[in-house]
Amino acid sequence: MTNVKIAPSMLSCDFSNLEKELKNIDAAGAEYIHLDVMDGHFVPNITFGAPVIKAMRPHTNKIFDVHLMIDPATPYIDAFANAGADIITIHAEADKHPHRTLQHIRSLGKKAGIALNPATPTSVLDHIMDLVDLVLVMTVNPGFGGQSYIALEDKITDVRARINATGRDIDLQVDGGITHETAPKVIAAGANVLVAGTYVFKDGHDHYAQNIQNLKEG
Ligand code: DX5
Ligand code: ZN
Repeated sequence: MTNVKIAPSMLSCDFSNLEKELKNIDAAGAEYIHLDVMDGHFVPNITFGAPVIKAMRPHTNKIFDVHLMIDPATPYIDAFANAGADIITIHAEADKHPHRTLQHIRSLGKKAGIALNPATPTSVLDHIMDLVDLVLVMTVNPGFGGQSYIALEDKITDVRARINATGRDIDLQVDGGITHETAPKVIAAGANVLVAGTYVFKDGHDHYAQNIQNLKEG
């Protein structure tokens, strides 16, 4: 499928050289740069915040796809917008007022995403589809890279039907355990943006482009 976009998760890159890794992954043909923000509260791990994203911003023109695994998210939206995020995704489970927060993200001129943990039903999307530009289906429990894919193709198919019913161009992103073996399954189920950390970064920068291509070909 030619319209599949790849969003490498910088969680798996060499953090000691973010500038170089961003340039490598840009040159390798990634469409989005996926940035996993974790708070040690919503998820059992801590990564980085808005200042680090701001420092990364000058090194690529690619879309910054910021995945907020933080609770609460609302007080930090402006900071991530100002840091240079293009898409800001919040978790349905981490925000008491997702409707308001999604509206706020859009009011800042950013694309708004909503993420669903593996056990979160798709019915949380019922009254917010007109406010979202991206739906993220988690295929691992968030918090760490390198976990095994949870088979949720039925859920992805359900979300694809909901997106098609809107008639709008909403991204269906899948995140967690994506490899050359699981990519074909999620693409067949209707995903069009694949997040991948471990798989893309596993063999050193000479292999980033090939790994991205492997995922796209499904
Ligand atoms: C998990 C993160 C993912 C993760 C993906 O909480 O949201 O983006 O880095 O890593 P892999 O591709 O290794 O499963
Ligand atoms: Zn992520």
